[in-house]
Amino acid sequence: MAAPADVVVRRGRDGDADAMLALEAVFPSDRMSRRSIRRFLRAPTARVLVAENAAGAVLGNLIGLRRAGSRAMRTYSVVVAPEARGLGIGQRLVEALQAIAADEACARVTLEVRADNRAARALYARLGYRETASLPGYYEDGADGLRLSRDLAATGGGKASSGASAASTRASA
Ligand SMILES: CC(C)(COP(=O)(O)OP(=O)(O)OC[C@H]1O[C@@H](n2cnc3c(N)ncnc32)[C@H](O)[C@@H]1OP(=O)(O)O)[C@@H](O)C(=O)NCCC(=O)NCCS
Repeated sequence: MAAPADVVVRRGRDGDADAMLALEAVFPSDRMSRRSIRRFLRAPTARVLVAENAAGAVLGNLIGLRRAGSRAMRTYSVVVAPEARGLGIGQRLVEALQAIAADEACARVTLEVRADNRAARALYARLGYRETASLPGYYEDGADGLRLSRDLAATGGGKASSGASAASTRASA
């Protein structure tokens, strides 16, 4: 399903910290503090993206991390407000990070996901992510995780389908 036309994906900025903190409430544990969010918003290794509607409400966000010199972009966190799910906003965020990673000449995007997270796994499977490792007991509560990866070179990156340019525009679950 396509995301609502009035939702844009853009780079996060300092003023988004409160809205991002509010979205953390959906996570049962491992929530980011305001301090870590602010740190990510300023970190040279972080690529913070927010999805915002025409009224200026932040409906979702994604944090990508890339170590200097690395050709892998890691999706650290992605979340969409419960009332805005199933509209393709998560997909838009993931594709926008792929576009940025491709622009930065990354070879792949990686992430970790809970094995029992059906919604996230459905989204990543649809976007061509493949399981590269199983991570037994990876999460704080003992839940199993999976490491997923999407090769950007094989498909020419995420540019074509993103609709969000790199310029404008945790996996705790
Ligand atoms: C995962 C998440 C970001 C997806 O955001 P979204 O905007 O709803 O994503 P999309 O609308 O692009 O796609 C959601 C997909 O999940 C599917 N889905 C939604 N709820 C589902 C459920 N309970 N079980 C199975 N699939 C589900 C949707 O059907 C859709 O797939 P489809 O279009 O192939 O049918 C959102 O569910 C979320 O914020 N979850 C909580 C945080 C989280 O788990 N983050 C991921 C950590 S890796």
